[in-house]
Parts: sequence; structure tokens; C-alpha cells
Amino acid sequence: MTNESALTPKPSDKFTFGLWTVGWQAADPFGAATRSPLDPVRTVNELAKRGAYGVTFHDDDLIPFGANDADRDAQIARFKKALADTGMKVPMATTNLFSHPVFKDGALTSNDRDIRRYAIRKVMRNIDLAVDLGAEIYVCWGGREGSETDAGKDPIVALERYREGFNILGQYVIDQGYNLKFAIEPKPNEPRGDIYLPTIGHALGFIQTLAHPEMVGLNPEVGHEQMAGLNFVHGIAQALFQGKLFHIDLNGQHGPKFDQDLVFGHGDLKSAFFLVDLLERNNYQGPKHFDYKPFRNEDDAGVWQSASNNMRTYLALRERARSFRADPRVIDAMKAARLDQLSTPTLAAGETWRDLGDPSFDVESAALRGSGYELLDQLAIEHLMGFTA
Ligand code: GCO
Ligand code: MN
Ligand code: MN
Repeated sequence: MTNESALTPKPSDKFTFGLWTVGWQAADPFGAATRSPLDPVRTVNELAKRGAYGVTFHDDDLIPFGANDADRDAQIARFKKALADTGMKVPMATTNLFSHPVFKDGALTSNDRDIRRYAIRKVMRNIDLAVDLGAEIYVCWGGREGSETDAGKDPIVALERYREGFNILGQYVIDQGYNLKFAIEPKPNEPRGDIYLPTIGHALGFIQTLAHPEMVGLNPEVGHEQMAGLNFVHGIAQALFQGKLFHIDLNGQHGPKFDQDLVFGHGDLKSAFFLVDLLERNNYQGPKHFDYKPFRNEDDAGVWQSASNNMRTYLALRERARSFRADPRVIDAMKAARLDQLSTPTLAAGETWRDLGDPSFDVESAALRGSGYELLDQLAIEHLMGFTA
């Protein structure tokens, strides 16, 4: 079984948390907050103690909306001091374009042109701060970019404005000489009835229409694809395949329902196992960012317990995935299932479609061969459960 040190998070594991995650006060549409606000400085200290690598923030998580310049500067200064004291990093930041009522019809896709221009100014201002704090990724989650009725907005024109917004922001980053890339975070719905760029696939297609597609990738979130009934592992595989996995939001979800934002692995555990396996085998080097909500039932101690749970679960799954891959029974079963053949190109070097003829191929016996996936699936489950005999 796994030893304790393998489950102890270290900064080199690159685990990060949004200030809004542990800081969630647990107000929901049906009830008031159950917890007090968390000071971002305390969050930095508590997460550093538990082995995290860094924190991320929306502009309004760090600096209350509408704060005057003096208060803003003072808050930034004490946040920077906490980062310096602990060695914690800020690899990513993002903009809150969804809480204030001005964004009720969206930000970059609001029908109101003045609101779109204001939203872009709000993003640019926080980009300056993000870069100052060392961030190299800027997440864009368009929570309010969407609709409840297609009478209210032309969805093609909305995408034109969405594209224009990204092009303006990309030009801003170029003109300022910043080393910053954007990561779009898809979500199918909530808070809008339907959100534009609802899935990884939609976002990947959209990126190719931008003036600088190389500056824009993805920040997929486990629960968001699962809300749409999609296979998150496959979505991440395609993002990796296209060089677009710039960042990742790890959490848990139980299938298509409201956005649960559970602790990582505490939803579809089997999918989380194969996700960690995929990320580790492909040497994903970006931050492993937890975007989750501690249960509404929890007090302060429960919040920090939940923060540790995310990291510990990731590390446990990493151990389980390694043990699965190293098991000689798994290696044999993979060979029997012909996984190695999938790695062999369909045409040999120098061949073309003209060379596809194969007189010895027997279609009937090929059709009769089993895949052997049942054995592999069971071995995966047993490793996941810790039975490695
Ligand atoms: C959600 C989203 C948000 C965004 C975050 C970044 O759960 O609906 O994940 O948490 O990631 O606000 O803008
Ligand atoms: Mn979410
Ligand atoms: Mn997220």
C-alpha cells in the first residue's frame, strides 16, 4: 500500500487554489452564507503550510469591487508580502465578469456596447496586476456570456463580439509586451441557461477563428464537461493533442446536474483515476488548480480539511495510476488487447493508400477476436481500490 510521504503535497507538485474556493462563504440561491469571509493573506499562509504551490484570484476576490486606489494599493502590498514570506506563486489570474449586476446580460457579449467596453477595461486592469504578480496564464470563464432566450441575442453576432473581445485583449497583451496567454474555460450552463463556448470542443473550434490563436488555449474543468454528460478524459486528451491544455480546473461532479464543484476525485472517481494517469503519462507541466467548493456544512477547520483532501486525492490517484501501469498483469493484458498496435501508424513508411491491399487478411476471424478490455477494466478498478496483489 501507499506510504504516507507519497500523499504529502509539496510545492513541486504545483497544486494551486483559487482564493474564491476556500474563501467561498457558501451562500447559495436558497440560503445565506454559513461562513465568514477569509482574508486572502490568511489563505496564502494556510495553503502554504499544507504544501500548495500557489494561489489564483479574480480581481474582486483580492480587491473589493469599487475600492479606491489607496485601499487597492494597500491590499496588493499586503498580499505581495504574504507571497514573499511563504514563497507562494500566482501562476494564473482571472476577471470577475459575472457577479456585479451590470454583467447580467454578459460582458464581452452583452448587447450593451458600453458594458462590453467597460468589461474589457476591467480585464485589462487586472491583467496588469496579474503580470505584476508573475502570472503567465489568464483564465476567461464567460459565466454570463449566454442566454435564456434566443430571441434576446443573435448567437452568431454574439460570437463575433466574443471574438472581437479576445482580439482586443490579445492586442493589449502584445502591445504591453507581456508574457501572458489566455485560457478559455468552457461550461455548458449555470448561471446562464445556456453559455456560449459550452464545451472543450466548441472552445477549440472558436480559438482557430481568433487573430492570435497561438495566444489562446483552454482551462477545462472536470465538472463542467461532466455536466454535459461528456468524457472529461477524452476532452483533456484532445486539448493535449492540439497543444491547448494551458491550465486545468480539477474538481468533482456526479453527472449532469447543477455545478457541484466537489473536491477532486469525490465525484466520478474512476474518471479521476484515468485523468491523473493521462496527465502524468503526458508530463503535463502546468499548475494543477483546484476549483472546488468546501461543503456548505463545513466550518473553518472543514475548509482546510477539504483543501488538503484535493491534494491528497490527486497524489493517491497518481500512486494508483503508477501501480496500475507497472503491474506485469496489466502490461500483458495491454499487449493482448493490442494497445501497442494502435501506436503503429496505419501506413508503413513510404506506403500510400495503394498499398493497403492485404491478401492474407481474414475479415471473419478478425471480427471474432475479443478485445480483452474486461480484464483491463477490472485490473484498473482493483488498482484504484488498492488491491495490487
Ligand atoms: C464555475 C467556474 C468558476 C470559474 C472561475 C474562474 O465553477 O462555474 O469554474 O469557478 O472557474 O470563476 O473565472
Ligand atoms: Mn465549476
Ligand atoms: Mn473553474
